[in-house]
Amino acid sequence: MSSAIFDRRERLKRLHEAGSPVFAPSLLSCDFGRVDEVLKQLDADGVTVVHLDVMDGHFVPNLTFGAPLIAEWRKNTGLTFDTHLMMTNPGRYVDDFVAAGCDTLVFHIEIDHDPVPLLRHIRRAGVEAGLSLNPGTPVSMIEPFLDELDTVLVMSVQPGFGGQSFEPKVLSKCRRLKALRSDLRVSIDGGINLKTAHEAVSAGCDLLVAGSAVFRGGTSPRQALDALYASVADHVPRVKTP
Ligand code: DX5
Ligand code: ZN
Repeated sequence: MSSAIFDRRERLKRLHEAGSPVFAPSLLSCDFGRVDEVLKQLDADGVTVVHLDVMDGHFVPNLTFGAPLIAEWRKNTGLTFDTHLMMTNPGRYVDDFVAAGCDTLVFHIEIDHDPVPLLRHIRRAGVEAGLSLNPGTPVSMIEPFLDELDTVLVMSVQPGFGGQSFEPKVLSKCRRLKALRSDLRVSIDGGINLKTAHEAVSAGCDLLVAGSAVFRGGTSPRQALDALYASVADHVPRVKTP
């Protein structure tokens, strides 16, 4: 493995070069007992980016992992870490996530504070910054901050758990975001499968998070990703397979 890919700028460059759409396997649905092996295999399979779900048991009714575990995983992989902070107080921990080797840090607009100082703090650290919207949260909530963002993560399920059903009503928000800023990376998270991936890409989504579809579909992650890419290939000329 090249040492260059342990450099954050290089990892973000690889993410940008992966083009649109790109699928990001969500580790939430993998075997937490063997994450290092999973990451190694995903890297060998040609995956560029993985999605990390940090849950604090307060913003969402579930707990996962924090910066110390991410730092351990980072020791052995150059995969891009797209990090989804489902936390009431992300600002308290953001420096730890930067130091742990996260490449994007996305927090929720629903927490009660002005997001601009934290977004700027994240970007100054060389990490991409984003805001996430729960299914019921309108785009107007983040419109004033669009220029401060590298990405928006549109939740297509209530955050907290994998394996839920996709809420198609959120697709209009993806279209709206692309109309407002065509260069914004629009990510979508929750219930992505062979059918909904196509709907999401048609609505302009660039990065599609997939947990259950990659790790719990009864095939290998590589086969699952091949099928997901195939499901969008005939509709999207820019599609790039891993
Ligand atoms: C849910 C998480 C998702 C989750 C998606 O709160 O944010 O990233 O892993 O899982 P699936 O793809 O199974 O809906
Ligand atoms: Zn997520």
